[in-house]
Amino acid sequence: MGEFTGKVAFITGAAHGQGRAVALALAAAGADIAALDVGKQIEYPAYDFGSSADLDTLKAEVEALGTKCVTFAADVRDDAAVTRAVEGTIAALGRIDILFNNAGICAYAKVDEMTDDEWNAMIDINLKGPFNVTRRAVPYMKQNGGGVIINNSSVMGLRGGNRLSHYTASKWGLTGLTKAWAIELAPANIRVVSIHPTGVNTPMNDGLAAMEGKTPIEIAEASAGNLLPVPWVESEDVAHMVLYLASDKARYVTGAQFVLDAGLLSV
Ligand SMILES: NC(=O)c1ccc[n+]([C@@H]2O[C@H](COP(=O)([O-])OP(=O)(O)OC[C@H]3O[C@@H](n4cnc5c(N)ncnc54)[C@H](O)[C@@H]3O)[C@@H](O)[C@H]2O)c1
Repeated sequence: MGEFTGKVAFITGAAHGQGRAVALALAAAGADIAALDVGKQIEYPAYDFGSSADLDTLKAEVEALGTKCVTFAADVRDDAAVTRAVEGTIAALGRIDILFNNAGICAYAKVDEMTDDEWNAMIDINLKGPFNVTRRAVPYMKQNGGGVIINNSSVMGLRGGNRLSHYTASKWGLTGLTKAWAIELAPANIRVVSIHPTGVNTPMNDGLAAMEGKTPIEIAEASAGNLLPVPWVESEDVAHMVLYLASDKARYVTGAQFVLDAGLLSV
């Protein structure tokens, strides 16, 4: 029996990066996994998205850990596809206890050069996406008598980011949703928290650096915000934090922001 045996976790952006690491860590602790990802390249930004093949290998890796996994190729902007994924999870796994709103994009743009398409994609995916998934999952959490929603914001959900105004706005918005949903959903015994990582060693990190014509380490050294002498944190560090927040050890934790920033926000 694992700590999460009998629980079902619904994870967006699960094909690679942080979502995949969280899916595998929760499965290793006994949870059944519903893994949603757009699963293909979309119009923006120009870096590698998770693929349907990544979803297939994730399913195999979860099942090798001894728990169940269902996968959905869906865009969090598409309410009908999100609804089908949530209902498909209930049909296959019976419940949703943990929601990790993790799918997101990032790209640099100066405010006076930003296009409507760039602004809209950032806000629609990073802010409306979590709204789409949450509003479909919450009725099933209420049926269970409770649950936990963990929103993957960023340090940029608690500070400003240079040439990242659309990203920063989306992540502050997600911090706000966390606060508001925590108030609204506490009577239903649904906890809502946000996490705020510094740079994480994922395909997003690699892709952002490549779009700048730099290596990830050059980008990290140029920003040099972390107090601890590390360029970034790993997806597994994020998974440790998410597992704590999803667990009964955090049963009275809601509405709060958890930084995983190697000290960045301390100065
Ligand atoms: N990498 C970082 O430095 C960093 C730091 C702080 C916060 N974050 C946030 O953490 C989250 C995960 O980031 P990551 O580093 O794992 O990124 P990533 O790009 O490596 O992985 C993101 C996953 O989300 C999927 N995705 C993107 N748009 C989607 C959509 N519209 N619908 C469904 N799936 C979609 C991608 O296919 C990919 O598999 C994001 O919300 C990101 O903003 C990242």
